[in-house]
Amino acid sequence: MKLNIAVLPGDGIGPEIVDQAQKVMNVVCAKFNHEVAYTNALVGAIAIDKTGDPYPEATHEICMQSDAVLFGAIGDPKFDNDPKAKVRPEQGLLRMRQKLGLYANLRPVTTFKSLAHKSPLKTELVDGADFMCIRELTGGIYFGRPQGRSEDGNTAYDSCVYTREEIERICRLAFEYAGKRRKKLTIVDKANVLATSRLWRETAQALEPEYTDIEVEYMFVDNAAMQLIQGPKRFDVMVTENMFGDILTDEASVITGSLGLLPSASIGVHTSVFEPIHGSYPQAAGKNIANPLATVLSAAMLFEYAFDLKEEGAAIREAVEKSIEAHIVTEDLAEGGKAYSTSEVGDWIVRYIQQK
Ligand code: IPM
Ligand code: MN
Repeated sequence: MKLNIAVLPGDGIGPEIVDQAQKVMNVVCAKFNHEVAYTNALVGAIAIDKTGDPYPEATHEICMQSDAVLFGAIGDPKFDNDPKAKVRPEQGLLRMRQKLGLYANLRPVTTFKSLAHKSPLKTELVDGADFMCIRELTGGIYFGRPQGRSEDGNTAYDSCVYTREEIERICRLAFEYAGKRRKKLTIVDKANVLATSRLWRETAQALEPEYTDIEVEYMFVDNAAMQLIQGPKRFDVMVTENMFGDILTDEASVITGSLGLLPSASIGVHTSVFEPIHGSYPQAAGKNIANPLATVLSAAMLFEYAFDLKEEGAAIREAVEKSIEAHIVTEDLAEGGKAYSTSEVGDWIVRYIQQK
């Protein structure tokens, strides 16, 4: 197969971790006889510095013409302390999601047995936890209008907006997904307070008769935040709106022991994007110390979701698991043992796949 991949390394540790994922993709393609071609493009703070735009039209064109996008991270502290900054790197990511129509963000939370003790939760709570969080990605308070300030500058407002159509397409995807797993779907909302949440619940309820094999539960987001910590194993597929999903998946990521482990796939209308859920970790940029595994695992999702290449994805996942078991890990997972560099971890995974 021929794979045309757009590569958007972005800011901070983005370039280093994306390098590792590309090395791994190269060896997988060599092994399974695929041809892969990369086209690099600018996004985030680096795109602002070079073009004034965090998601330049040229980048969008490259994404549209590719089969899949491998994305690093964006964000730069020089923008964070300037609330008046006219343009922010994050706008690049949001605009990309919107323009590519990436309404579904799949964030699988899986635990590695050899890391269960790294979790802040008790091992018996974590061991075997395996669920999929599906986050709506192009609606809600992230994109709702009006948004802004009053003229005197003393009042600010955001709007949470959802249409029945937007809710239905993401809930359908979640029902279908649950059907392929353990057939349990948790719909997270705040229907006791928010009008948008009540429309979510009404829309999801109307779909239930079409999916009678799925066990559905509705859960308020505050309760869900608590249940994630109290018993993550109870979840199979969880679906929720944009902001709740953002918050709950950061929370869910620590269940596995490190934020540096969780990959994601954003899918929708146009080209799908694969990226780690963590940010640009600017303090570590250029130091070759960041954990590349979330990005490497995102590459595994890329093979599976963008090309339906299941064996290729599984080969990457296995290599990652073995690298953790062999303690070839970066400092966030080293626990006083030897900490390997970002590129050493990448090299080890490449060698493992080569020799397998
Ligand atoms: C994420 C990030 C983004 C989000 C930021 C960088 C805009 O936190 O992908 O989870 O909030 O969606
Ligand atoms: Mn986030």
